[in-house]
Amino acid sequence: MKRKRIALIGASGRMGQAIASALQKDKSVSLDLGFSKSRPSEKVVKQFFVYKTKFDLKDFNQIDLIIDFSSSSCSLKALKLATHARIPFISGTTGFSKKQFAYFERASKKIPIFYSSNFSFGILVLRKILSDPQLKKFFQRVEIEETHHRLKKDRPSGTAKTLQKDLSLDFGPVRIHSIRKGVEPGHHRVLFKNNFEQIELSHKAFSREVFSNSISLILNFMAGKRIGFFDMMSL
Ligand SMILES: NC(=O)c1ccc[n+]([C@@H]2O[C@H](COP(=O)([O-])OP(=O)(O)OC[C@H]3O[C@@H](n4cnc5c(N)ncnc54)[C@H](OP(=O)(O)O)[C@@H]3O)[C@@H](O)[C@H]2O)c1
Repeated sequence: MKRKRIALIGASGRMGQAIASALQKDKSVSLDLGFSKSRPSEKVVKQFFVYKTKFDLKDFNQIDLIIDFSSSSCSLKALKLATHARIPFISGTTGFSKKQFAYFERASKKIPIFYSSNFSFGILVLRKILSDPQLKKFFQRVEIEETHHRLKKDRPSGTAKTLQKDLSLDFGPVRIHSIRKGVEPGHHRVLFKNNFEQIELSHKAFSREVFSNSISLILNFMAGKRIGFFDMMSL
């Protein structure tokens, strides 16, 4: 079987590197192109067939699929080119405005897009638990607390916003408390309260591998998809 040729946007970053190591173990893909804003160490560059610090449409000529963990502006630029070249797009970048994210929905009418603010199986299960109608029946108040490393650029986290969106359908506005400290890869707590008791549901990532571990499954899921918007709940 021919290997799928992958372009990785944000290849030098913390997540880019976690994804690159996961894909090096996957025999169905080849890391053809790596992109970042600045040129990283030779160790990173060597993981890819070609490494670039700027990209345009012609770079994607020989590419079967784009994976993006970068920044909102860079991600949108890549998505626009992917849409133009009709290349499937997988993204985990966070920090988009509503207007920016609307472009993902529009683009999914032309190409298959997989987007999730959190690629971990644990958050997928947590989201399913949060949809239990008993929670709404017995608990009137809910809040979210998220803790991440000091270098995280967006606040609140994309995952906290996803959980907030899920919960606000039942509970109305939900407050998020954000904490930035140390090297924490991601800790989310959801607290349900009534006047007599509290339930605390919590997800803690031990390392970034928790977000890259799912990538091969997502690639399999996306195989053969022609258009549409998919996320972890679609798996
Ligand atoms: N969905 C998930 O499960 C999940 C999990 C963790 C993080 N994330 C999200 O993934 C994104 C990346 O996180 P990270 O921790 O890997 O960040 P990071 O370490 O800062 O890496 C960002 C990468 O994107 C590149 N980049 C940024 N802006 C660019 C531009 N304008 N043009 C080209 N390349 C650009 C950076 O290149 P330089 O290094 O050269 O600047 C770097 O390679 C964030 O939005 C984060 O919230 C998602």
